Amino acid sequence: MIGRLNHVAIATADLEKSAAVYRDLLGAKVSEPQALPDHGVTVVFVELSNTKIELLQPLGDQSPIAAYLAKNPSGGVHHICYEVEDITAARDTLEAAGARVLGDIKLGAHGKPVVFLHPKDFIGTLVELEQA
Ligand code: CO
Repeated sequence: MIGRLNHVAIATADLEKSAAVYRDLLGAKVSEPQALPDHGVTVVFVELSNTKIELLQPLGDQSPIAAYLAKNPSGGVHHICYEVEDITAARDTLEAAGARVLGDIKLGAHGKPVVFLHPKDFIGTLVELEQA
């Protein structure tokens, strides 16, 4: 069902400092910050040769990562995103198998359909599926 690793998302309270770690210390190619008000985050994309890292900082007071940062003030891995060919089929298959799907399929930060899966059913990891 799942294909490529699309990205790993890391939540941070200090986007500038976190971007500098990847750019200056790790020598990665790092984008300018992009505000995504519909998603409640400001994001910096770290381009690696085989995948992306997304550094996420809360934006606004409804940010989906605010609770995570309250529990993990120094930041941390928030979710991982795998590509699927057909997100509706993937969602239906997982639900039929008893996995908990969080909410509806929505347009994600890349303008493609995404859905999130409950960490309790995926080894303690919040999983995002993106239709590639
Ligand atoms: Co994501």
